[in-house]
Amino acid sequence: MTQFARNQWYVAAYAAEVGDDLLGRTVLGEPVVLYRSAEDGRAIALADRCVHRRFPLSESRREGDAIICGYHGFTYDRTGACVSVPGQTRVPRTARVAAYPVVEQDSLVWIWIGDPAAADASRVPRAPHLADPAMTTVRGMEPIDADYGLLVDNLLDLSHETYLHGGYIGTPEVAATPITTEVDEEAGVVRVSRHMADAECPPFYARSTGIEGRISRLQDIEYFAPCLYLLHSRITPVGQPGPVFRTEITYAITPSAPGRVYDFWAVSRDFAVGDEQVTAFLRDFNHTVVMQDVDALDLLQRALDTEPGPYQELSINIDTGALAARRILAALAAAGADRADA
Ligand code: FES
Ligand SMILES: [Fe+2]
Repeated sequence: MTQFARNQWYVAAYAAEVGDDLLGRTVLGEPVVLYRSAEDGRAIALADRCVHRRFPLSESRREGDAIICGYHGFTYDRTGACVSVPGQTRVPRTARVAAYPVVEQDSLVWIWIGDPAAADASRVPRAPHLADPAMTTVRGMEPIDADYGLLVDNLLDLSHETYLHGGYIGTPEVAATPITTEVDEEAGVVRVSRHMADAECPPFYARSTGIEGRISRLQDIEYFAPCLYLLHSRITPVGQPGPVFRTEITYAITPSAPGRVYDFWAVSRDFAVGDEQVTAFLRDFNHTVVMQDVDALDLLQRALDTEPGPYQELSINIDTGALAARRILAALAAAGADRADA
């Protein structure tokens, strides 16, 4: 299993998901309740287990910014401190749940599960296109019953588009075109590029852009380990200098628990931005593509779980980016473990 890197920022939710209602999520194995303050509109994240008998606070109710446990009424303020218990005036000194650092940026709600003293808001990676009014974004989230490392592998090697997503986003040229890979171990960033000068236009782009012929197709991946993945996609009809159709494909890879990952996905485009039909098409079509990955990774995880013994993987050129990502994730997890032991 891919180890968790605790001292890192992770996407817990889309900003639009965090509102008056209590939202339960599990990040790095820790149950979290998210809601938006009635006082100042900020997103709040508390541990989702009452200190009394562990009832989920996300299944409880709010009064202003306080949460009243749905089982026996322990009441918590927005800092996680218990401010009232039933049947007695004295509130036990230890009655508090954790409050997690949160940053809301680029329409994403980021959470820090590790050592709060190490949380640095300036290190949250950026995805400004998600909140760019000049672009239109469709988005969703699917939980996958798989090690989050399998999703990292999947996204860093897009040759699988040809086979798993043929007829959707894959064409023969994707798998046939070699990649270039750049790794910045220090910053924890992996960049993988695949530039196709003359390729078939897959339905995803043909139906959203109206292009009928062949295209030049640029795929430039930036993976900011551990959570944020950006695929900068540029499509141009072959022989034309422009217009370039710009699509930004974003994933946030948030480990939920061992063997379970949240797959946040978004597609932002700078063309046909007001066209509802294109928006509906891309939402449905990309959801189908995401579900192809979800089904494949569920299946792959089950296959790995039933391996009778140790096995040897066989990696080739297409795996360069994913192998670099694995090294970086291992280093980030080890760094967090050192700090926890210190
Ligand atoms: S479990 Fe929350 S008050 Fe008893
Ligand atoms: Fe895929």
